[in-house]
Amino acid sequence: MKTSLHMVAILLLAFLTIAAIDFGICNGSHDVVCPQREKQALSSFKQDLKDPSDRLSSWKVDEDCCKWAGVVCDNLTGHVLVLHLRNPPYYYPDSSLGGEINPFLLNLKHLNYLDLSGNDFQGISIPSFIGSLATLQYLNLSDARFEGTIPHQLGNLSGLRFLSLKGGMHVENLQWLLGLSHLEHLDLGGVNLTSEHNWLQVINNLPSLVELHLSDCQLDHIPQLTGVNFTSLAILDLSKNDFRSLIPRWIFSLSSLVFLDLGSNMFHCPFPMVQSNMTLLRYLDLSWNDLNCTVPSWLYSFSRLEFLDLHFNHLQGEISNKIGNLSCLISLKISHNNLGGRLPNAIANLASLNTLDLSVNGLVGRLPNAIGNLASLDTLTYQVMNLRDGCRAGWEGFVT
Ligand SMILES: *[C@@H]1O[C@H](CO)[C@@H](O)[C@H](O)[C@H]1NC(C)=O
Ligand SMILES: *[C@@H]1O[C@H](CO)[C@@H](O)[C@H](O)[C@H]1NC(C)=O
Ligand SMILES: *[C@@H]1O[C@H](CO)[C@@H](O)[C@H](O)[C@H]1NC(C)=O
Ligand SMILES: *[C@@H]1O[C@H](CO)[C@@H](O)[C@H](O)[C@H]1NC(C)=O
Ligand SMILES: *[C@@H]1O[C@H](CO)[C@@H](O)[C@H](O)[C@H]1NC(C)=O
Ligand SMILES: *[C@@H]1O[C@H](CO)[C@@H](O)[C@H](O)[C@H]1NC(C)=O
Ligand SMILES: *[C@@H]1O[C@H](CO)[C@@H](O)[C@H](O)[C@H]1NC(C)=O
Ligand SMILES: *[C@@H]1O[C@H](CO)[C@@H](O)[C@H](O)[C@H]1NC(C)=O
Ligand SMILES: *[C@@H]1O[C@H](CO)[C@@H](O)[C@H](O)[C@H]1NC(C)=O
Repeated sequence: MKTSLHMVAILLLAFLTIAAIDFGICNGSHDVVCPQREKQALSSFKQDLKDPSDRLSSWKVDEDCCKWAGVVCDNLTGHVLVLHLRNPPYYYPDSSLGGEINPFLLNLKHLNYLDLSGNDFQGISIPSFIGSLATLQYLNLSDARFEGTIPHQLGNLSGLRFLSLKGGMHVENLQWLLGLSHLEHLDLGGVNLTSEHNWLQVINNLPSLVELHLSDCQLDHIPQLTGVNFTSLAILDLSKNDFRSLIPRWIFSLSSLVFLDLGSNMFHCPFPMVQSNMTLLRYLDLSWNDLNCTVPSWLYSFSRLEFLDLHFNHLQGEISNKIGNLSCLISLKISHNNLGGRLPNAIANLASLNTLDLSVNGLVGRLPNAIGNLASLDTLTYQVMNLRDGCRAGWEGFVT
């Protein structure tokens, strides 16, 4: 009896040991280490960087490079997949990396994610060999003080889905974008695109686009499109350009749009006559343009709208009672226009309203009493023309 119990105990122990070894092999993640060749590539990359704050102090040659800060490896093969070296903005003390980007990076044959955004490369150009990191799906070089021409070789990154190049660069043209047919997110904010007259035709060949940021690109011409291919677009930012034209009709056919910023341009009236299909729109900014007609009634059909900014235009006419349809509005800014008439009582339908700016218009009369029912209202700026004595009676205040 005693011996057989002993036997069972030994067998159990053996079984557990085998199970433990097995598990270790199956799981594997603590056994994989970064391949020597990739560790060397990263070491060379580090050598050419300036790192005054010693952000890369964990990059020690006698340690597994999969444990280095910002490095993520495949948990089965150990290949380096991700280099996440973004410098957080406004971080103190400054932890920017700078210097040169060593082409040994090309030895990371499995790299799919490279983020160097927010660093300070002090005006060097984006090296053209980045276009040979063939496995990249995500490339973020935004706000990293790269200057000069964006290398067209980036067009060889055919698997790219996210491309962020916000900053003070310029392009000769954008034809290279045609190689990036899987692109979902494109940010060229701040890039000087004046040399590319066909920017929209090029972008229209990127059918997978979901986000497009072309703010502050010095664009002055926005063509009409007969057929829009990027029908999945949810975010469109064309603010801070020099468009002096009508707002093109095709924008209002983007039925997936959630965010539309056309602010700080010189768009003028009339608005297109549209049967707009943008039923998902939640953010609309048309501020700082040259719009001098009445607010089109279709604007009141965007029933999910949360942010509406029309301030600094020359809009005329009255605010329609249909404003009550925009019952999701959180922020409504229509100051600095030529709007007249009374504020309609329907404003009291906007139960989520938090910010209401009506100042510097020609509105007359008292605020509707119903405005007192707006429980969320935090900031109200209103100014009326008191017609009886012909002088401007200011009423500005904050409601809490
Ligand atoms: C695999 O190993 C990792 C790292 O050591 C550990 O966190 C994880 O829990 C393990 N997974 C299993 C299923 O044992
Ligand atoms: C390992 O990789 C697989 C596939 O990429 C992933 O599903 C899993 O969560 C990873 N495991 C760990 C511990 O990272
Ligand atoms: C790129 O990095 C910046 C900040 O450094 C960030 O705001 C932006 O969202 C990133 N782009 C993508 C596509 O993740
Ligand atoms: C792709 O790379 C080849 C050489 O590797 C180069 O000649 C070509 O210009 C690149 N294509 C683009 C679109 O940049
Ligand atoms: C933008 O690029 C154009 C043409 O390359 C150039 O003439 C213009 O000066 C640039 N704008 C700025 C602000 O650098
Ligand atoms: C995009 O639409 C245009 C017509 O506006 C068409 O000529 C072109 O072939 C389309 N491109 C793609 C990639 O679908
Ligand atoms: C909205 O959709 C309808 C039907 O799908 C279509 O006929 C109309 O042209 C679209 N409106 C715009 C502005 O694209
Ligand atoms: C709007 O501005 C244009 C150009 O300055 C002008 O021709 C037009 O009469 C203005 N419309 C209104 C309603 O003031
Ligand atoms: C206002 O909303 C009602 C019902 O939600 C809808 O029938 C009407 O067409 C809307 N008015 C406008 C101008 O969109």
